[in-house]
Amino acid sequence: MTSPSTVTDTAAGGGMPPLLSLRGVNKSFGAVHVLQEVDFDAFPGQVTALVGDNGAGKSTLIKGIAGIYGFDSGSYSFDGHDVTVTSPKQANALGIEVVYQDLALCDNLDIVHNLFLGREITKHGRLDEATMERRAKETLAGLSVRTVKSIRQQVASLSGGQRQTVAIARSVLWNSKVVILDEPTAALGVAQTEQVLKLVRRLADNGLAVVLISHNLNDVFEVADSISVLYLGRMAAQVRAGEVNRNQVVELITGGRSGDLGLGPADALATSPGQRPDPTGPLGANVEAS
Ligand SMILES: Nc1ncnc2c1ncn2[C@@H]1O[C@H](COP(=O)(O)OP(=O)(O)OP(=O)(O)O)[C@@H](O)[C@H]1O
Ligand SMILES: [Mg+2]
Repeated sequence: MTSPSTVTDTAAGGGMPPLLSLRGVNKSFGAVHVLQEVDFDAFPGQVTALVGDNGAGKSTLIKGIAGIYGFDSGSYSFDGHDVTVTSPKQANALGIEVVYQDLALCDNLDIVHNLFLGREITKHGRLDEATMERRAKETLAGLSVRTVKSIRQQVASLSGGQRQTVAIARSVLWNSKVVILDEPTAALGVAQTEQVLKLVRRLADNGLAVVLISHNLNDVFEVADSISVLYLGRMAAQVRAGEVNRNQVVELITGGRSGDLGLGPADALATSPGQRPDPTGPLGANVEAS
């Protein structure tokens, strides 16, 4: 289905071709049509914010990109080629990495072992500690991470921001091209949020396509180049961050449209079973616009 937002899609990357591009993807869980004809692009060297209210379908979209679920239909292209991604292994092979909100770090291991968790480097059947330590140092230095005292420090002793940093560093160790971050600052204080946002910006400045899921519009406007808004499983708009203001994004999140932007009136009202807005209360209660 074509919506007015499609007009802005080519402009969302500032004229650059997308590295990752979805067109018309659908995903249902039983009778619930969670993603409906969703288009989505991520551009190299740019931060694309993915926003939307609780239940809008952000995590489902990301899990489809990461190969945790296959999409039911639609096209998925990477670097200009159509690809089939139905397992995390296939996504990793393309250079797609996701940092999930729980971070999946092992508290009882040090930073080096966490960075290489599940993908340890071995030599003559033993862990190659020297190589892993060298690559860990290089990676953290490449990201200008200076806040950790020792890479042999146990992760249990790190602050929330440092833990997020380790999880992000782990995602860029493997020649990644796309890094997707699910709410990286949700549990962080002001100073640590700043550090993590700087790191997010640096990833993009290093050429990666970064996708940032966030409910915090301060974060979004601080680092994002473009903003994609999901509304009840539909992509309401993909726009340049500099071309919209906070109120427009809040309207897109809560109602699927804002002036000329977003879904047409019929689409903005269209819902599927399980995705009906609560008529008794406003949507968007989880948007942090302050
Ligand atoms: N495995 C599943 N089985 C059935 N329904 C699901 C499943 N996963 C997600 N859903 C439904 O799909 C919809 C979108 O969920 P999703 O987790 O993608 O939303 P979200 O945008 O990530 O929300 P949040 O901001 O709360 O994380 C919700 O209605 C949810 O209940
Ligand atoms: Mg989610």
